[in-house]
Amino acid sequence: MNPRPATPAESARTFTELYGGHPDGIWYAPGRVNIIGEHTDYNDGFALPMALPRTTRVAARRRDDGLLRLHSTRGGGRITELRVPDLAPGTVEGWARYPAGTVWALAEAGHPVGGADLHIDSTVPTGAGLSSSAALECAVAVAYDALYGLGLPGPELARTAQRAENAFAGVPCGVMDQMASLCCVEGAALHLDSRTLEHRQVPFDLTAHDLTLLVLDTRVQHDLADGAYAALRAGCERAARLLGLPALRDLPADRLPEALAGLPAGLAPLVRHVVTENARVAEAEALLAAGDTRALGPLLTAGHASLRDDYRVSCAETDLAVDTAVAAGALGARMTGGGFGGSVIALTPAALARAVTEAVTTAFARAGHRPPAVLEAVPSQGAGRLA
Ligand code: GLA
Repeated sequence: MNPRPATPAESARTFTELYGGHPDGIWYAPGRVNIIGEHTDYNDGFALPMALPRTTRVAARRRDDGLLRLHSTRGGGRITELRVPDLAPGTVEGWARYPAGTVWALAEAGHPVGGADLHIDSTVPTGAGLSSSAALECAVAVAYDALYGLGLPGPELARTAQRAENAFAGVPCGVMDQMASLCCVEGAALHLDSRTLEHRQVPFDLTAHDLTLLVLDTRVQHDLADGAYAALRAGCERAARLLGLPALRDLPADRLPEALAGLPAGLAPLVRHVVTENARVAEAEALLAAGDTRALGPLLTAGHASLRDDYRVSCAETDLAVDTAVAAGALGARMTGGGFGGSVIALTPAALARAVTEAVTTAFARAGHRPPAVLEAVPSQGAGRLA
C-alpha cells in the first residue's frame, strides 16, 4: 500500500545530476495522522497525533554565497533560485513557499543561516490532510539545523516551521502537524500540549491488539478549506475573549453548560467541540495506558460526530467513509486533519481491513465519488537524518 521512496543513493544521484558534486547529507520528515484532538491546537489544547510511514526527503548541501536553490520531483523539473537575504513574505509562490519560508523563519529568529542546494522528493500525498506541507517544512528545518550546526530542539524547530506556514505561506495553522512530524517516535502516538509544547510518547501497538489503522483518503479538498479554517479559528478566539479566558483550553468541562448559555448561538457549538475534544484526548490516553486499545473505536466515532455536527468541518465524502467503515466492522472512524475533505482514519480489526476498504470503495462508486486512496497508518519515527 505504501509507494517505495527514493533510496538515499538515488536521491544523491539526482542531486549530483542537478547541481554537480555531492550533498552534505539527506534528511527526512514524515506526514501525520491525528488520532484524536482536532481543532484544539490553536485553542492551546491537546492532541494525539502519530507520524506516518510516508516521508519527505531533502538531499542538501550548504552554500556560503546566500543562494538558495530548490528542486522538487513534484515541482515540474525546474530549479527555483532565491537569495536568502531577499526572502520576505509574499515574494515566493507555490510549493517553494514552504522550504523558502522555513529558511526565512530561521533567519528571522536570528539564527545564522545562509544558502543551500536542496533536492526534495516525497511520498506524502498532497491535499489529503496528511500534512505534506509540514513534512516539507520540517525536512528542510532538520536539514538546515544540521548544515548550520544550530542544535535546535524539536519544539523550537516546530515553532519555526509553523511561523513559516503562518507568516510566509499565509496559512493560519496551529502547531500540531509540525510537532508530530518532528517529535513522534516509532511505535507511539504523541501526547501534545499545544500551549507549552510539552509532549510525551504514548505507546501505540496496533499489531499486539490485531488492529489496523486505515487511512482512507477521500481525494477531495473542498475550496472553502482555507477561509473556513481562519474563520473557525477567529470564532474560537472571540468565544475565549467573551468568556474572559486566555484560550478555550482554559474552560473546564464542568463549566461548559454555564458558558454555552451565555454565548452567541454561532459560537456555542465551536466551544462545545473544543472542550469535549480535549476531554476525548485525555480519555484516549487513559484507554491506551490501560491497554484497552480497541475501546478507542467509539471515541473516534464520537469525535467525528462532534466535528460533523458542532464544528461542521466534515463533508459528504468523509461522512460516507466513516459511516461505511463502521457498518463494515471498523471499531470506530473519524475524519483527521483540518477537514472539508481529506482523509478518514478507521480503527479496524486486522482481519477486516480488506472488507472495510472494499465497502468504502463500493459506497464511493455508488455515490459517484472517485475511489478513495488507502494506506496503512503505522506509528513511525519523526524527522531525522537518513544519510
Ligand atoms: C490542520 C492544521 C493543524 C490543526 C488541524 C486541525 O491540519 O494545520 O494545525 O489545526 O488542521 O486539528
